[in-house]
Amino acid sequence: MPRIEFRPDIRSAEVDEKTKVLLSARKAGVTIRFACASCRCGTCAIRIVDGVMNLSPMKVDETKLLGQLKLPQDGSIRLACQSRIMGDCVVDLGFQNEYDSDMGLADEDEDV
Ligand code: FES
Repeated sequence: MPRIEFRPDIRSAEVDEKTKVLLSARKAGVTIRFACASCRCGTCAIRIVDGVMNLSPMKVDETKLLGQLKLPQDGSIRLACQSRIMGDCVVDLGFQNEYDSDMGLADEDEDV
């Protein structure tokens, strides 16, 4: 079974092939922020640290939404509600703190 690791807390789980990343997080005991679970909001965007090629290919809707949110469409950022695990991979959930789906990527130079 494929193994997925979540950082920064280093929690992992072995899951059945084709399990969505969002569901695998529950098995690993971590929380991924999400809202629609149907490729409409972008709230569940995550960074793939390793194993980009071990996730299901992006469908048109996911690619389109990432583009609308001005996020990379090269597989380094995926929607947890859409991507399915096909092999071992590592996910950085810290990205969820860097990114606001209402605003796009936070400006690192911006005073908050
Ligand atoms: S939860 Fe809305 S796009 Fe994934």
